[in-house]
Amino acid sequence: MQRILSLLHKYTDADKLFSMPNHYRIQFPPSDSEKLGQDEIYFTLIENGEAKRLRFHDYDEIYKRPGLYEQLFYERLGCNSPEKVADLLQRALNTVREPVTELRVIDLGAGNGMMGEVLKREGVARLVGADIIPEARDAAYRDRSTVYDDYYIDDFANMDANVLEELREWRFNCLTCVAALGFGDIPPRAFFNAIKLVRTDGWLAFNIKESFLDHTEQTGFSRLVRELIFSKYLEVYHLERYRHRLSMEGTQLFYYALVGRMTASIPEDFLEQYGIED
Ligand SMILES: C[S@@+](CC[C@H](N)C(=O)[O-])C[C@H]1O[C@@H](n2cnc3c(N)ncnc32)[C@H](O)[C@@H]1O
Repeated sequence: MQRILSLLHKYTDADKLFSMPNHYRIQFPPSDSEKLGQDEIYFTLIENGEAKRLRFHDYDEIYKRPGLYEQLFYERLGCNSPEKVADLLQRALNTVREPVTELRVIDLGAGNGMMGEVLKREGVARLVGADIIPEARDAAYRDRSTVYDDYYIDDFANMDANVLEELREWRFNCLTCVAALGFGDIPPRAFFNAIKLVRTDGWLAFNIKESFLDHTEQTGFSRLVRELIFSKYLEVYHLERYRHRLSMEGTQLFYYALVGRMTASIPEDFLEQYGIED
């Protein structure tokens, strides 16, 4: 009996999402979605007989509906980025024989907790989520109530002084950020401020669209990542090109997953030094 109860407890949270009765009716546009920018892409949700157009970036509306985010990005479009980034982080830790159980992680752009779920399963010591919209935290607490030790809502590009103070107290030694950098999501300043919360010898584990490493791309974000990779402040352990997910047309979207370790404190004026703006 005890064993049955503990098995039930173990699987309840994870199974909940895929056994939820509310499987949504989603329609993708007839064609040409690839001409749209990544933050303009939309789909149609048929709900109570009504058609509602939602952009992929309408996270507030998506998170309000339990399981919609998972159905869209993970089931239908085959996203596997949390597993990929977490796997590379684990491999980097193995290289230096450090246990994952000592990681104190801030998960930036945590959303409804997909990356958090993987990290929690691996047994990190502390896990704090952060996002810019309250719907993300509501969804994470609703669907993955046991994953995060705490979850902060703030604009990391312009941080509230009290939130900053509280976050420093967690003494993070790892920053994760999955499927959230660039493209109208997390801007350079926000990512930089999150990096500054990580201890000098801490880990960074994140993914980026493959074109961000192309030197012809001159957005602030891609320049920040390139400058970081070649700087003395970061030692890269893994940089792997992999399939992040499919587009709505079924083509493969490739990203880089990067895991590195900070080697020195990044100067406060790093962005200014390289003329990186949002
Ligand atoms: C595609 S979701 C990724 C969620 C989760 N990491 C995952 O892998 O499924 C991107 C998340 O980044 C958040 N985000 C966008 N801009 C942000 C910012 N400036 N600061 C913090 N979070 C932000 C969004 O609200 C959204 O929840």
